[in-house]
Amino acid sequence: MQEQNRSLQPVQELTDKEFSTIAKYIESTVGIKMPATKRIMMQSRLMRRLRTLNIGTFSEYIDYVFKSGNTDELTLMIDVLTTNKTEFFRENDHFDYLTKMVLPELAGTKKNVKIWSAGCSSGEEPYTISIVVSEFIKNNPGKILNFSVTGTDISTKVLDKAYNAVYDLDVVDQLPQHLKKSYFLKSTDKEMNCARIKPELRRHVSFKRLNFMDSDFRMPEIYDIIFCRNVLIYFDKETQEKVIGKFMKYLQPDGYLFLGHSETIFSMNLPLRTCVPTVYKKVNKTI
Ligand SMILES: C[S@@+](CC[C@H](N)C(=O)[O-])C[C@H]1O[C@@H](n2cnc3c(N)ncnc32)[C@H](O)[C@@H]1O
Repeated sequence: MQEQNRSLQPVQELTDKEFSTIAKYIESTVGIKMPATKRIMMQSRLMRRLRTLNIGTFSEYIDYVFKSGNTDELTLMIDVLTTNKTEFFRENDHFDYLTKMVLPELAGTKKNVKIWSAGCSSGEEPYTISIVVSEFIKNNPGKILNFSVTGTDISTKVLDKAYNAVYDLDVVDQLPQHLKKSYFLKSTDKEMNCARIKPELRRHVSFKRLNFMDSDFRMPEIYDIIFCRNVLIYFDKETQEKVIGKFMKYLQPDGYLFLGHSETIFSMNLPLRTCVPTVYKKVNKTI
């Protein structure tokens, strides 16, 4: 009998027990809630791993990942199960607020502004922040002299893309002409259809893998501004409060925290006050 080609096999069913094994692992190590409604999503995303590994069933896959404590595969499994949707200038009113309110205030006291994009996905957010700060510096000479943006994420796949800083032309083309011209270099190979962030901007941005479930983030700086947008929404409320609590150690007194538009610190016990919805300022006291 001819050996079956596994890429042509019918879609495998992820049983409730298999789903629950993986869901428990993801919830405890990454913090992402995995209710039963996520079973089909998990099944279709993990099918990609089964095909790549030429593994026939989810039961074999679970043995492959967990029985041998296969850390490389655990990382790849987390990569496929995280949601990485992002875009340049996403939730743009945050960048207006940054330009009109936050940077002018910081410019009064700081020459070097430090920003953390936590849960940065493939880099669009930290590069957008860098573009906005660069434009502020250009339009307000002598105020802020330098800045750095640190992007962190748990997914190695998106961090690779962020580090490479290469984006599809149809995405980049949606940005205003003057920003494209100042901050992107089109590939000279027309077939490639992509553009890369210019080195002058890239030099302000660095990336690091970080899991918000870690007990200490071990970040190298204390930041003036932290962006953590559209990440906490995947965690339960208790985990959200713990993660934001850990951010406080790395936020300057009077520093700013930006959350995603559908996220809130309402009823959490944190040293933050609301500036405008989803933008918070750390109250000036030692934690
Ligand atoms: C939907 S994206 C948001 C990207 C960007 N902040 C934005 O608003 O466009 C969420 C990111 O959070 C990351 N993430 C999820 N759980 C995480 C964890 N426990 N630690 C660090 N990053 C995590 C995911 O890998 C993903 O790239």
